Amino acid sequence: MEDEGITVRKAEHLRLAIEEDVEVPLGGGGAFDAVRLVYQALPEIDLDAIDPSVELFGKRLAFPLMIGSMTGGTEEAGVINRRLAEAAARCGVGMFLGSQRVMIERPETVATFAVRDVAPEIPLVANIGAVQLNYGVTPAHIRGIAEQVGADAVVFHLNAAQEAVQDGGDTRFAGLAQRLADATAELGASGLPCGVKEVGSGFSIDAVRRLAGMQLAFIESAGRGGTSWTLIEGRRAGSAGGRSLGALFADWGVPSVTSLLACVAHGGGIPVIASGGLRSGLDAARAIAAGASVTAMALPLLRAAARSVDAVVAELEAFKRALVTAMFLVGAPDIAALRRAPIRIDHRARPEVWEGRVDDPRDGMGRRS
Ligand SMILES: Cc1cc2nc3c(=O)[nH]c(=O)nc-3n(C[C@H](O)[C@H](O)[C@H](O)COP(=O)(O)O)c2cc1C
Repeated sequence: MEDEGITVRKAEHLRLAIEEDVEVPLGGGGAFDAVRLVYQALPEIDLDAIDPSVELFGKRLAFPLMIGSMTGGTEEAGVINRRLAEAAARCGVGMFLGSQRVMIERPETVATFAVRDVAPEIPLVANIGAVQLNYGVTPAHIRGIAEQVGADAVVFHLNAAQEAVQDGGDTRFAGLAQRLADATAELGASGLPCGVKEVGSGFSIDAVRRLAGMQLAFIESAGRGGTSWTLIEGRRAGSAGGRSLGALFADWGVPSVTSLLACVAHGGGIPVIASGGLRSGLDAARAIAAGASVTAMALPLLRAAARSVDAVVAELEAFKRALVTAMFLVGAPDIAALRRAPIRIDHRARPEVWEGRVDDPRDGMGRRS
């Protein structure tokens, strides 16, 4: 057990994410720019009548956003989690907790994840690294950490790129797909819905196909385009070799829109939560029109939570207003209509094209060749 190591690591993650530039360099564009919504000049609806609410785990979200998985395990993380949860409750959205592995090693850290007193009703999701199933964590442990925080579901994160760059990372991934399938089946059968997410390096078609056979309540696409965990772990590395490895792989992974489309097309109908560089309600509208059921955003809400609950509420309200504005401008009175809204997708973002499985009929400038 490396109790102290884990809390020092969490504190360093927070400091780096709050203070430094830790996002994948995209050259000025946004992670969801590859999806274009088509403007409807005659929307034939009243903006004030638009209903952006959706259902998740039998609960109502005022609009389709979950605060992304981030933190827990240290005193500062506890303060952040409570601010995020309070803002989520005020605005009617849900929240993913950060990895709760530390709770298994140091049960007293439960207080840093416990938010039900400030957010009794919100959809709340527990979190654990899937690879921990290869390091002795069992479904019973996971049920325990979910129950202790009153979670509605649990999400397993896949983070091979992060672990590979991290000094001493947990890289024994052999046999994990079967173990994950077994664990999610067992937990699901016991009444705890399970999801799987990446942490910002996304899913290829083959990876999604492996998940499609599992009994999952959702997949969170978490593509490349926002927070970069290879970059963060590289910055934390103690050696010059570790730092250059992190820099080399800083933009590793499947882009956000590509990962989202792979999950939607190849996930066997499992609901998809879009994330990875999702930065506004406009991005959320694009993601939902491209097939997502709900969206998630992490880094900007962490930075707001480092300031105050009110700062998080302001971020969430701006997000909702942009989403409703986009819905108005495509003539979508509700989320079901937004999902049917016409879109244009940059051909190069399609997973088959991105993976080179079909020829791109356009040249690099987007023109027909
Ligand atoms: C400070 C911080 C800590 C994170 N910790 C976790 C974690 O414990 N478990 C997890 O599944 N994802 C974790 N993530 C990843 C996010 O949930 C998300 O997938 C990723 O940051 C991409 O979203 P973003 O670009 O909106 O930040 C963390 C992100 C941040 C910024």
